[in-house]
Amino acid sequence: MYFAHFPTSFLSLLLAWSLIPLATVRAYFIVNSPSSGMIWANGAANPVQWTKGLEDGIDSFDIELTRLSQQGLTFVAQGVPATLSSVNVFLQDLPTGDDYYLLFLNSTHGLMYATSQKFSIIASANSSTPAAITSAPTVTVSGSPNPLQAFATTFPPSANGVASPAWHALDGAFPQAVAVLATMTLGLLGGAWAVL
Ligand SMILES: *[C@@H]1O[C@H](CO)[C@@H](O)[C@H](O)[C@H]1NC(C)=O
Ligand SMILES: *[C@@H]1O[C@H](CO)[C@@H](O)[C@H](O)[C@H]1NC(C)=O
Repeated sequence: MYFAHFPTSFLSLLLAWSLIPLATVRAYFIVNSPSSGMIWANGAANPVQWTKGLEDGIDSFDIELTRLSQQGLTFVAQGVPATLSSVNVFLQDLPTGDDYYLLFLNSTHGLMYATSQKFSIIASANSSTPAAITSAPTVTVSGSPNPLQAFATTFPPSANGVASPAWHALDGAFPQAVAVLATMTLGLLGGAWAVL
């Protein structure tokens, strides 16, 4: 009896132990907007909204814009305080496309917290494009993705002594690319999208 059960118990114990780190860091961070298929417009302030756990240890994060079909990241906002739940992104001259994603992450070490659904960017606003959120701060983003470009907006206060924005961007680019892939893979595999 004892011997018959031993391997199962041992496995359960192992499983329980392996889940402890997950359980302690598990949090929710959901990007509500842009939602799937939403259309953003150049020349307009487009709303970003998220919901996140209160005590997940994430006090601030960075937002970046990327595309599925092309490499490159556009830095949107750095050090967004977790006390906010929305910002507007004013777009200027971004290439149009239907495969854009927003990434919510710590770009210093590339840790991904959440990604938005896939959305489009078109040349100019029409009645299908969303209205800005009046109470939210607006950040401006222009041009094509450029890894050397600094964040468009840095929210104060930035307590960490990061060097120059350019180095910061270079630093971040590779882990981010890996993190995007990992996040997408996980999302595909287990619907784990929201809990990252
Ligand atoms: C990213 O993580 C580093 C190290 O843990 C921290 O100092 C920094 O403030 C974080 N960045 C943001 C935007 O919160
Ligand atoms: C707005 O523009 C997009 C892209 O051209 C188009 O798919 C959509 O149907 C337009 N909406 C309206 C209401 O014209």
